Amino acid sequence: MWLNPKMYRTRLFLDVLRIFVFPVVTLYETQTYAGISLGFLAPPAYLGSIILWGFIRNLFYDYQQHRNCSRLGAKPIPRIKGKLPGNIDILLRMMKAFKTAYLMDVYLELFQEYQCTTLNTRILWVDQIITMEEEHMKFVSSTGFNHFWRGRRQKERMEEFLGNGIFNRDDEVWKMHRANARPFFARERISDFQTFEKHSAKTLSVLSQITAFNLPCDAQDLYARFTLDSASEFLFGNNLDTLSGTLPQPGLAQMGYKGSATNDAFGSFTQAFELAQCIITQRARLGYFWPLAEVRKNKMKEAALITKTWLDPIVERALEEKAKARRAGVEAPLADKTFLEHLTHSTEDVSLIRDELLSILLASRDTTACLLTFVTYFMAVYPEVTKRLREEVLATHGTHNVPTYESLRGLKYMRAVLNETLRLFPPVPLNVRESRPEPVSLPPAQQASFPGAKSIPTPKEHLYMPGSTPIMFMPLLMQRNPDLWGPDADVFDPDRWLDPKRISIVTANPMMYTPFSAGPRICVGQNFAYNEASFFLVKLLQQFDSFTLAPEFQPEGSLPPVTWKQKQGRQAIEKIWPSAALTLYVKGGLWVRFGKADHGDS
Ligand code: HEM
Ligand SMILES: *[C@@H]1O[C@H](CO)[C@@H](O)[C@H](O)[C@H]1NC(C)=O
Ligand SMILES: *[C@@H]1O[C@H](CO)[C@@H](O)[C@H](O)[C@H]1NC(C)=O
Repeated sequence: MWLNPKMYRTRLFLDVLRIFVFPVVTLYETQTYAGISLGFLAPPAYLGSIILWGFIRNLFYDYQQHRNCSRLGAKPIPRIKGKLPGNIDILLRMMKAFKTAYLMDVYLELFQEYQCTTLNTRILWVDQIITMEEEHMKFVSSTGFNHFWRGRRQKERMEEFLGNGIFNRDDEVWKMHRANARPFFARERISDFQTFEKHSAKTLSVLSQITAFNLPCDAQDLYARFTLDSASEFLFGNNLDTLSGTLPQPGLAQMGYKGSATNDAFGSFTQAFELAQCIITQRARLGYFWPLAEVRKNKMKEAALITKTWLDPIVERALEEKAKARRAGVEAPLADKTFLEHLTHSTEDVSLIRDELLSILLASRDTTACLLTFVTYFMAVYPEVTKRLREEVLATHGTHNVPTYESLRGLKYMRAVLNETLRLFPPVPLNVRESRPEPVSLPPAQQASFPGAKSIPTPKEHLYMPGSTPIMFMPLLMQRNPDLWGPDADVFDPDRWLDPKRISIVTANPMMYTPFSAGPRICVGQNFAYNEASFFLVKLLQQFDSFTLAPEFQPEGSLPPVTWKQKQGRQAIEKIWPSAALTLYVKGGLWVRFGKADHGDS
């Protein structure tokens, strides 16, 4: 029997009983039964009983694992062996790294130290698998899909915020969500660019007002507004109109949870949205015992309440509309319905509809905004890329033409730039699944055993994946792995995607590039996202021709530490501080000066 995933305190309580109370009570009972008094030896004896009991449980678990391993004919996944009991030093090292180190470097270091691409961190004696191995990601997301699910641990972290939504459900409920969403991403639907046109125009007009004063703008914030307004209109036909709110002020902006903070009404919604993502990430980082940090206060409560307060009235209004239409005896055909209208026809459950909406808003806003943010970053760092991109845009669309589904297909270089940005900065850099209760064996690793070690022969044995255990997989590390991408894996080079020889490597091995994931849970919005980003970039480049980073406007504490310069790989060259909270973002926002092209009259 499983607890409601919201009841994390009860789960913690049961763990305390299992780990501490059981041995203590047993010792007490035994001693009373035997009529012995422990006297001054009592405290060490009780402590000893807890340790001994832990030791026995561990031995028993290892024995079980060992048996299961041989039964499945697989080898155990290498365990990290820290210096302190329970790998506490590893936990501390990770917590420190999340504050100061480069994106996911702490994991990369561990893979290199142990010379393998899949590891068991086993912090506080709880198994937790991490992997950057392509074969294992393929197994978890596609070929071995049925052996995994989102799982209980993940639901426990996200339930309060995402509830019944698509990201937080498995099996039948997930299938229902997927079936509900699919028709809305069919080609006819996503080739209607009216919403993109409207919101791109608005975004560029906001931008032109800022550049008229020769001020920089937090591109990350602006893009989040653009993608949220577009998504809300596409999904519920009702624009949240966040582009009309107050933007963060250059030079005055303070750090929000992710980018720069905003204080308008929209600010409360996005702050809650971002806070929730940060809490989920924090919980994941703390691992199995995260409830210890939230015994007194459920940090998610407030954020969840704010998003509900925003979305519930929208859902209620849609339900009223439906009732009205029904009374009048009219019903629009599916092709004319918004996603929200479609949902109100399948259920009357306000919370279910809200959860579905929230999940898709989350899926579409931050990811696409992240893609645009990092494209802008690269355009600022590589003016020659900007020039080529702009030439392609002007040659195909002139300075004013509105892109269509077909005209975007012709933008080869644009697509290469988007692909290359998604390779180095996949908006979802890390993902988690849990094995179902049955243990399973993972296929042998394909790539060399650790990054940069082609010479070491790849082990050919299967690995043993224990039951009910989380596995964290990291497309970001895989997509930067030199063993897959060559020695220049860390270099931004869109031409990679135009060179038949290099493309053929990816075509032969599509799993090495999975910014949209793979298998049955692959992103449903992939084409929507490519279209939205390309559409916006065409309109942007028709009017603007230069992008310059404005580090002097980054909020305090958001520039990369100087110590990074001595490190290797992208860390040494990064001009911004990329961070992750479910999705990637630039710490403090991306402050950029947008330079208007001469002919750009709007
Ligand atoms: C550059 C933009 C985007 C990227 C990189 C991206 C990436 C991803 C990834 C990696 C997943 C898998 C998540 C998981 O397995 O836990 C996913 C799922 C999903 N995405 Fe996207 N996404 C993007 C844009 C969008 C857009 C614009 C929408 C909708 C309008 C969308 C809707 C979804 C949905 C509904 C799922 C859940 C699928 C499921 O669990 O079955 N995505 N996306
Ligand atoms: C070993 O396999 C059995 C049977 O499949 C399973 O119930 C048990 O949980 C497994 N043990 C571990 C440690 O995964
Ligand atoms: C971009 O990547 C996708 C794989 O996700 C591939 O199908 C496509 O051909 C690539 N396009 C270009 C121009 O690189």
